[in-house]
Amino acid sequence: MKVLDAEFVQGFIRMANDGFLQGWHERNGGNLTYRIKPEEVEAVKEEFTAKEWVSIGTTVPTLAGEYFLVTGSGKYFRNVILNPASNIAIIEIDSKGEQYRIVWGLVEGGRPTSELPSHLMNHEVKKAASNGKHRVIYHAHTTNIIALTFVLPLEDRVFTRELWEMATECPVVFPDGVGVVGWMVPGGREIAVATSELMKKYDVAIWAHHGMFCSGEDFDLTFGLMHTVEKSAEILVKMLSIRPDKLQTITPQNFRDLAHDFKVSLPEEFLYEK
Ligand code: 13P
Ligand code: ZN
Repeated sequence: MKVLDAEFVQGFIRMANDGFLQGWHERNGGNLTYRIKPEEVEAVKEEFTAKEWVSIGTTVPTLAGEYFLVTGSGKYFRNVILNPASNIAIIEIDSKGEQYRIVWGLVEGGRPTSELPSHLMNHEVKKAASNGKHRVIYHAHTTNIIALTFVLPLEDRVFTRELWEMATECPVVFPDGVGVVGWMVPGGREIAVATSELMKKYDVAIWAHHGMFCSGEDFDLTFGLMHTVEKSAEILVKMLSIRPDKLQTITPQNFRDLAHDFKVSLPEEFLYEK
């Protein structure tokens, strides 16, 4: 099968385009990676030609031998649907988890996203934590979440609680909450370590004054998670723009009642009295 005909490639392209249409990917902003299933690699590998090995910039031993579909560094999400082979790539990880090589795509040159260390370290953590189920890591420059990182304390419990309060289904969609990383230089190992540490506990990590990372099992769940968190942030921005306080809200007891009926567990650390 041709790479571009594979369902996982079509799903990846659609997700990149959906993200662009949401306004989360100005210029080359944001990046997307998918850990390809062995049977999906088997189905398309006849089209692979391997390029040279390149250092990842960190080590991901538990991803040794895995293949990923990734967006290219400096490539625009809006162009992925028009010319996928020039804007995305399939990479293979070496047997030690220290290097990658391009085996398909980026046909006009280029390299995988500069956030590859964060993506791969998040994949490592989520692969272990989900028994191999999580396959998608998505980074987007979500406008309203970024705005909130200027006015809310950069604390997991504050962001989680405020976002939960903005829409009843939020605690059902992200019951573990969200983590927050203070401002850091993007693109390297240091921010990758900080983000992957949060991914041990959460499926969502917010980068102050930058954007968000989400992890999920498939494209629908991961896009849906990003969409839900960002929509909640939009409601909070609107609410704060109308007046700084709430006349009424969802209370800690309301959350406990919701958790009971929806059979989710909501950590008490987020249900503090204000
Ligand atoms: P890349 O173009 O290298 O993926 O970088 C975009 C980005 O959002 C960096 O955080
Ligand atoms: Zn970014």
